[in-house]
Amino acid sequence: MTMPSTALTSRLFEPARLGALHLPNRLVMAPMTRNRASADGVPQLIMATYYAQRASAGLIIAEATTPNAVGQTYPDIPAIYTDAHVAGWRRVTGEVRAAGGTMFLQLQHGGRIGHPDTTGLMPVAPSPVAFPDPIVTPAGSRPGVVPREMTVAEIRSTVADFAAAARRAIDAGFEGVEVHGANGYLIHQFLSDVTNHRADAYGGSVTGRIRFAIEVVEAVADAIGPARVGLRIAPGVTANAMREHDIEHVYPALIGALANKGLAYLHIVFADPTQPLFRRIRRDWPSTLIANPALPWPTPFPADGGRHAGERLLAAGADLISLGRAFLANPDLVERFRRGAPLNPVRAEHWYGGGELGYTDYPLLTAPAGPAPFDWR
Ligand SMILES: Cc1cc2nc3c(=O)[nH]c(=O)nc-3n(C[C@H](O)[C@H](O)[C@H](O)COP(=O)(O)O)c2cc1C
Repeated sequence: MTMPSTALTSRLFEPARLGALHLPNRLVMAPMTRNRASADGVPQLIMATYYAQRASAGLIIAEATTPNAVGQTYPDIPAIYTDAHVAGWRRVTGEVRAAGGTMFLQLQHGGRIGHPDTTGLMPVAPSPVAFPDPIVTPAGSRPGVVPREMTVAEIRSTVADFAAAARRAIDAGFEGVEVHGANGYLIHQFLSDVTNHRADAYGGSVTGRIRFAIEVVEAVADAIGPARVGLRIAPGVTANAMREHDIEHVYPALIGALANKGLAYLHIVFADPTQPLFRRIRRDWPSTLIANPALPWPTPFPADGGRHAGERLLAAGADLISLGRAFLANPDLVERFRRGAPLNPVRAEHWYGGGELGYTDYPLLTAPAGPAPFDWR
């Protein structure tokens, strides 16, 4: 007889290993850009409050953070290439650790997803293929631009910037980093035949197009140790105008090249357990697989927050389940799942930028007595 999944029997609440870490449960807070850093990328105290509120997640993957100036995507996203960035992040990781949490940092270079009005620099990418959508800048929405093609020297210095950012992330108190190879940003642009038209060693064949991703992951692993490194991928996901024609070749080749490096994890966005590529990736990937379920996007957001889709992915071989919007709107998501309690509605109008509203003010199941535990004022 199959046991129905209840709060008590759900595998989501089982502990898990991740590299050298022991996680108390299998629920991962997915990385989410919230644009609440300073204009020059320094994490603010309110970000410490927000993440510490969510410290009961088995693992928090902190939002996309830029490893250099030209890689910045949007206004007020955090960075990690100066001492001030490290000091700002240290306050965040300190609060999360004090609250019992474990945290990785996502490293993201935007490639063609960026704008001179935000950075003062022309975005760089594998090839000069325009970003076809509008993009937000400090002065409002602007048409996307045609990026400048990266020279081989720039590719090498970008790889080095990822490695330096990873070292700084450890210095800032993170347990590890996630290399952002998903959702149409620089690494994904190298993987795709639509955005990578290079004729040199970093383009053309599948071997050429996966080279940059491999070099970044290897450099980051050399810098901080492979057991502290994860990679996020999004095969076939069309976020940020991304298009790919040969995911059945690109991703198995990428995973094959990285499988024996001792990395902490692979993280798949919009994972579908019925997709043959998902099953193949699970078979080929030897360590932890984090799956982010393919939920309706952007609406309707399922009432269960993705819990049942996550349990289906665990049954299909995923080790950990990452959820985005459910953690955004429910600081005590793990406890709510445990109790089978209803979830807060997601307020999308406060996703990107602003202050406490829609950020640190989502209510807990039971309002604590006395002063709020995360009140900084
Ligand atoms: C406000 C918001 C910001 C996001 N920012 C990032 C990001 O910085 N990096 C990333 O890889 N994915 C980002 N995502 C995608 C999430 O990590 C996740 O894949 C997506 O929300 C789907 O999961 P969900 O259905 O549980 O929300 C973001 C999603 C949201 C809602």
